[in-house]
Amino acid sequence: MSAYIIRGGNYLNGEIRIGGAKNSVLPIMAASILNLSTTVLLDCPCISDVDISVEILRRLGCKVWRDGCRAEIDSSMINNFEIPLELMNKMRSSFIFLGAMLAVGGKAVCGYPGGCELGARPIDLHMKAFRKLGVHIKEHGGYISCDSSNFKACKVALDFPSVGATENIMLLACKQKGTTTIVNAAREPEINDLQDFLNLMGAKVSGAGSSKITIEGVASLSPAEKRIMPDRIVASTIMFAASTTGGNITLQNVNCSHLDSVILLLRDCGADIYTHSDSLDIICPRRLKSTDVLQTMPYPGFPTDAQSQAVAAFATMKGTSIVKETIFENRFNHASELKKMGANITIGDRLAVVRGVPRLTGAHVYSPDLRGGAALVIAALGAEGTSVVDNIHYVDRGYDKLENMFSELGGDIKREDLYE
Ligand code: EPZ
Repeated sequence: MSAYIIRGGNYLNGEIRIGGAKNSVLPIMAASILNLSTTVLLDCPCISDVDISVEILRRLGCKVWRDGCRAEIDSSMINNFEIPLELMNKMRSSFIFLGAMLAVGGKAVCGYPGGCELGARPIDLHMKAFRKLGVHIKEHGGYISCDSSNFKACKVALDFPSVGATENIMLLACKQKGTTTIVNAAREPEINDLQDFLNLMGAKVSGAGSSKITIEGVASLSPAEKRIMPDRIVASTIMFAASTTGGNITLQNVNCSHLDSVILLLRDCGADIYTHSDSLDIICPRRLKSTDVLQTMPYPGFPTDAQSQAVAAFATMKGTSIVKETIFENRFNHASELKKMGANITIGDRLAVVRGVPRLTGAHVYSPDLRGGAALVIAALGAEGTSVVDNIHYVDRGYDKLENMFSELGGDIKREDLYE
């Protein structure tokens, strides 16, 4: 198992290019089976969740070639529409393949999705929408068997703007006869990226970014090449790190409009942030002042995927913050690890009260999940002394060599294999 050894205290200065977004490339990789042809993806991040998606694509009979951040997928030979349990429970977004497999094969079998322990993470919204669209679903012995031969395009309303459910319906409906409309759709930028990719293949999807998405089914789709949108959560992570260590960083390849809520928050805390067409400069003193209340919300609200990083930054800002996590019921697992470093955090029901202390102290801490691990790295970079951030396989799920990014910016961080 690998861990990061981090000696805190260095300012972070310099320039870094943000890569493609995990939460965009994963649904797009699932969508690549729809054209029964070739797909080329640029800025495809080298992260373990992508590795799992490649394994799933190969299990379905697709060919996949990777060359750095370029991926090529040939789905012309797809011959299997069942994802084995051991692959399903490796990550949550394996469930996005269900809609695509049904769209191509008419039948599909998969298990329940795995993923980080952020809460129950049910799939009821996906299933309710699929049943409304005429999909026959049988749940038995840990498997979910679906048959879309009686698919009937119609209007489906989501009880909650679920990102995954929105994506699954888009993939299911884009090659089915008729017009399907999603009401109360998720509005995250990754949905726009998926719509762009589908339409590049010849689909007729519109409305992404709004809460109403219309999918006009087409008979077939064509080869496509797509550059994955920049990862707004990786960009947010670097920004919260700068606010913890102090520094002056230029982020290249960012879409600043995706970062509005994070930019506004950090400006309120005293950071100077300058936005440009595809880059952003952030300049921070050693210690900012925290905001009173922060609440995670569906986009364009503050992203739940940046909440852990914000809590880590608030831990050493001046003042007290109340952070409310409204999306997941169990997303403060990083708090107990931050407290080992001297953070003053009290956890309530879906909320954290963070009383800023002048400095944290290095400790041996354990990543509880993907973004919680990133939060511990941020805390360690600003702490007094040396930290060990363990279980960084979680971090590798969504960050392409995070240690390289922070080293390039002047952070003292190394990856080591601590145990056999
Ligand atoms: C996507 O997960 C992201 N993952 C998550 O990022 C992100 O936190 C989340 O959207 C919210 O923005 C990917 O895109 C691969 P949801 P998803 O369906 O689709 C509940 C990261 O760190 N819900 O919008 O699983 C659910 O339990 C990851 O990169 C139901 O109740 O999120 C949660 O409380 C973590 N029933 C809320 O909705 C359902 O059927 C939001 O879930 C589906 C979801």
